Amino acid sequence: IQQLLFRNPNEPPVVFHLFPIIGSTITYGMDPPRFLKENRAKFGDCFTFILLGKKTTVYVGTQGNEFILNGKIRDVCTEEIYTVLTTPVFGKDVVYDCPNSKLMEQKKFMKIALTTEAFRSYVPIISDEVSTYFKKSTDFKGKSGTVNICPKMAQITIFTASHTLQGKEIRDKFDESLADLYHDLDMGFSPINFMLHWAPLPWNNRRDHAQRTVAKIYMDTIKSRRERGAVEANSQDIMYHLMNSTYKNGIKVPDHEIAHMMIALLMAGQHSSSSTSSWIMVRLAARPDIMEELYQEQIKNLGADLPPLAYEDLAKLPLNQAIVKETLRLNAPIHSILRAVKQPMPVPGTKFVIPTSHVLLSAPGISATDPQYFPNPDLWDPHRWEKDAVNAPSLVKDENEEEKIDYGYGMVSKGAASPYLPFGAGRHRCIGEQFANVQLQTIVAMVVREFKFRNVDGSDTVIGTDYASLFSRPLEPANIYWERRDGA
Ligand code: HEM
Repeated sequence: IQQLLFRNPNEPPVVFHLFPIIGSTITYGMDPPRFLKENRAKFGDCFTFILLGKKTTVYVGTQGNEFILNGKIRDVCTEEIYTVLTTPVFGKDVVYDCPNSKLMEQKKFMKIALTTEAFRSYVPIISDEVSTYFKKSTDFKGKSGTVNICPKMAQITIFTASHTLQGKEIRDKFDESLADLYHDLDMGFSPINFMLHWAPLPWNNRRDHAQRTVAKIYMDTIKSRRERGAVEANSQDIMYHLMNSTYKNGIKVPDHEIAHMMIALLMAGQHSSSSTSSWIMVRLAARPDIMEELYQEQIKNLGADLPPLAYEDLAKLPLNQAIVKETLRLNAPIHSILRAVKQPMPVPGTKFVIPTSHVLLSAPGISATDPQYFPNPDLWDPHRWEKDAVNAPSLVKDENEEEKIDYGYGMVSKGAASPYLPFGAGRHRCIGEQFANVQLQTIVAMVVREFKFRNVDGSDTVIGTDYASLFSRPLEPANIYWERRDGA
């Protein structure tokens, strides 16, 4: 009653809760998309709930995506929210531990390294890593077996990302100490650290030790590359580009910043890509018929002898591309994107004004599963992305879609009012989209060449989602039954 009586009519409705600090933290945390959809049905696209004591205003739907993700820099702020988590993990002076204009320059340095020429060199590296992995892994010995696919995909992701983006010296260190150190860094990303990031707890001590050690490994590698003058062999990796980049103010990117950006890049790419590849494998195990279609697509479009995969081949495999697209529609690893409010923000077309005491929450996954745009939205159907499919997405054309804008890291689409935004939009949009596509499509194509998957019980059921960390992923153990293809 109190919540109804004292409601400010100029603020969005508040989700009912019994306890002031806890608010809706538990129901939201258990299944964020479900919580958001249920309350959207009650309140409409814009409403507020209490998350860890903070008034959190959700705005979903295409207009909400635009309002938050394309918010002006004077209105919304990202670093204020995330720096407590990211600075201890990445290190100083990068990403959210610096002014936004510096992040834009850092993103530009990383993005310009990701050229078509670089991708052309990455596909053979990724294919080799995948084949070698399956040859060596004891879990894939013999003709068939059962495996929890998530840790396997996490390893394949980090081996392929480190090798392509950071060079072979760094990749080889993942067979030694780097894997454990990155695991310790990961602990810094648990949601509890939004509150306890500063506390002298065992996992925070391990995080801090890992950050110092990993940064030193990168700085030593940079130094030795300089001394050897042997940069040419690495000219397609991002470290090489950063070693040769200069800020607009004339200052060369310092070594500690390169090291910290290397950590940030691997962490940003790792969780999102490995969650996505795990989901793809889980989906394929539930739909062996589609896995077979993927195999036949390669035979038909690349040749029956399946030659070594090249970058150009990826464009010849539309179903292979659609698998990634459709999985990101239903299982986008980043379900909630937060922003601090810097000045009162009127919500166009309503009487609401979002005050600076609120945090904004964007969830593009809600519009990506809205039947208005995606008929039969809960069905995982990669074929829907074919032009004349019965349930093809009716993506409403965003009037600004064709128009491009440069926030300082290259041209991106001006509009953010698309219902399908797994890579975000606006100033903070992902720079890793193309890399992730190349990496994921290559991994899927290689797995399909080698294996047939199915669910252990032969059913078409799909495991639930684990929302306990910042990036959602399949609940473990996500066991699947694998069988080697004849001759693989
Ligand atoms: C930003 C998704 C892979 C690097 C983002 C954002 C999303 C996203 C939604 C926006 C976050 C925000 O607005 O706060 C994904 C997905 C991926 C993926 C779904 C894979 C399937 C990668 C990879 C890299 C990467 C492989 C690196 C090579 C970044 C960076 C940002 C970003 C640097 C910018 C953060 C900012 O400006 O605040 N990503 N990402 N991502 N991503 Fe990705």
